[in-house]
Amino acid sequence: MNTVIAPSILSADFSRLGAEIAAVEAAGADWIHFDVMDNHFVPNLTFGPMVLKAVRPHTTMPIDVHLMVQPVDALVEGFAAAGADLISVHVEACPHLDRTLQLIRSKGKQVGVVINPATPAHALDCVLPQVDLVLLMTVNPGFAGQAFIRPVLDKVRVVRAMIDAIGLPIRLQVDGGVTPDTIGEVAAAGADTFVAGSAIFGKPDYAEAIAALRRGAAA
Ligand code: DX5
Ligand code: ZN
Repeated sequence: MNTVIAPSILSADFSRLGAEIAAVEAAGADWIHFDVMDNHFVPNLTFGPMVLKAVRPHTTMPIDVHLMVQPVDALVEGFAAAGADLISVHVEACPHLDRTLQLIRSKGKQVGVVINPATPAHALDCVLPQVDLVLLMTVNPGFAGQAFIRPVLDKVRVVRAMIDAIGLPIRLQVDGGVTPDTIGEVAAAGADTFVAGSAIFGKPDYAEAIAALRRGAAA
């Protein structure tokens, strides 16, 4: 599967969000990642569907929405209507996970499921065949700029094997602390889709930052 680099707008300049998204697209990004936080499931607060709707005309990249909210279903509807392409929800935030995944699919969107660093891979067992993407958090969600949690590498290998065993084209995404220094190990462990916030928007030259991540992933 091809390597996908998805800059997280959490580290962008929010006063010029449309221009920032256009800039990373021109710099070679594949997708754009939206971190939605509610100060309940995670200890931070970001934005809702209105912001996605406002920037949708500024990019042709797929918009990858990472919902860190509880409850989640009303916001699935809101982000689907606002123009999301893929919507990911946390196992830890969804008491009726199967229902929520079906809801995303019913809106014609790609379906993602997320687990936190302390959640075991087997939490994915019953839902793996119905998703397009698994996101393994490599930080505790809530903030950009945190250090990569290395023990998650073992879980990346386990989930890679689970996906390979069922033979479906499911993407394996990682999010948190992804830099040119960490991306090689996590790619070698089996991830193919990489979220990066500070390693892209925190750099002066977005094209070089994305190229450095691609070099790191291929090394
Ligand atoms: C964390 C978010 C991540 C984060 C990535 O809760 O889901 O997407 O913003 O930021 P970096 O790449 O700086 O760790
Ligand atoms: Zn994220």
